[in-house]
Order: sequence, then structure tokens, then C-alpha cells
Amino acid sequence: MIDLEKAKKEFEKYISKYNLNNPEIARKVGHSYRVAKISKKIAKSLNLEQEEIELAELIGLLHDIGRFEQQTIYKTYDDIYSIDHGELGVKILENNEYIRKYIENSQYDKIIKTAIFNHNKYEIEENLEQKTILFCKIIRDSDKLDILYEAIAMFWKDKIKVQDGISQKVLKDFKDEKSILNQDKITELDKAIGIISFIYDINYIESFKITKENDYINKIMDKFEIENTKVKEEFEEIRKIANKYIENKIQKER
Ligand SMILES: [Fe+2]
Repeated sequence: MIDLEKAKKEFEKYISKYNLNNPEIARKVGHSYRVAKISKKIAKSLNLEQEEIELAELIGLLHDIGRFEQQTIYKTYDDIYSIDHGELGVKILENNEYIRKYIENSQYDKIIKTAIFNHNKYEIEENLEQKTILFCKIIRDSDKLDILYEAIAMFWKDKIKVQDGISQKVLKDFKDEKSILNQDKITELDKAIGIISFIYDINYIESFKITKENDYINKIMDKFEIENTKVKEEFEEIRKIANKYIENKIQKER
């Protein structure tokens, strides 16, 4: 058994060292708790053992533990201009065996660290054990699901009028069912499509169900008021492709 209450208390203690009045820091606290919850939900949907469900939840709670130090030191969440926050998280947990404050037993250390290390990478590293891959996939899904939520609740809180278009490479990659690369996102709509393209890197049916139930894709897209007719058409095409892709994934299970 993993004592999640104890882990949450330790997490509270850890974050209390940081400036919680900084909205950027506060946002990651909320994100960590939400991701823990979503990870638990996905793990349950996969009919995992109770302890594995707890492990998924713990990884969710800890996956962004590097974020607080990153924001405090570098004043940014951009890994490219600062530090890889997945790797930093692993280091924090390794320092003086800090991980033991979260879980008494060391048998899951490798899984926890590997999942945190891999959660923010473009792809999961190769040659991992099946069980480790499972937890990498769960955290990658739940992290993305919460970013979809944050996109609506925080990034594009109010409706925005956009005048610029969609970059051709972004449009093409999306139609080819590829995740959009960060460096290709130029316009505001590119960024939105980048987040929508998370669907191509989602692993589990439960995650598609959560996306659909919360209507994340349409809600994100509805934030944008597009003036140019051609751009509007392109954007609507993306909507169709995305919704159909999600629907197909859910249908396949039946
Ligand atoms: Fe992260």
C-alpha cells in the first residue's frame, strides 16, 4: 500500500518553500493535484491492482516536482531556455533519498523516476520494461488532459479575435495525424492546434473519453473568433478531423 495522504502532506510541505502567491507557481500546484486525480482515473479504467492505481496517482502528484525550482530560479517554464524539468524532478527526488518521504518501499523507485523523466519528452525512451512503459503512458496522458483543461480555463480564458492564420506545416502535420512540434508553432492558432494535436499522442481509451466528455477540443476552438474566411474554413476542418479521430478511438473499443 502507498500512503497517499502522507505523500500529499509531504508535497504540501515541499511546495510551502516556494512563493505560492506567484500565480505561475500556484498554477503548477493545481496542475499536480489534478494530474494525480486523472492518473488515478486512467489507472482504474485499465483495471490495475490497487497498489498500481496508487502508484499512478503518486507519479501524477510528483511528475512536475521540478517545476517549482525551475520557476524560482529561471522565471520560466520553457525547458529550452532553462532546464529539463523532468530531469530536475528526478534529481530532486534522488537528493538525500528525498523520494523516501513519499513512499517507504523502494521497489517502485525506478518506475517513478523513469515516468517523471519521460513525461515531458517528445517520445518515451526505448528499451523500457512493459510495466514502466505503462506508467510512462499514464502520466503522459493525464498531463496532456490537464493541459487541455488549462487551455480553456487559463491560457485562453476569454474569447480572442485572431487576424493571423495557420502555418502550412502545422496544418499539414495535423492532417497527417502528427503532434505539432514546438518550433513550428508561430501564430496563436498554431498554438491552439498544437494543443489539439495532443490527441495524436494519447494512449488510452479512457483519455479519449475524458476529452470527449469535457468537450475539450470544441471548447478550445470556440475561444477563437476568426475573421478571415479561408482561415476559418481550415480551422473548422481541424475541428472535424479531431472530433472524428476521438470518436473512432472510442468506437474501436466497443
Ligand atoms: Fe511537466
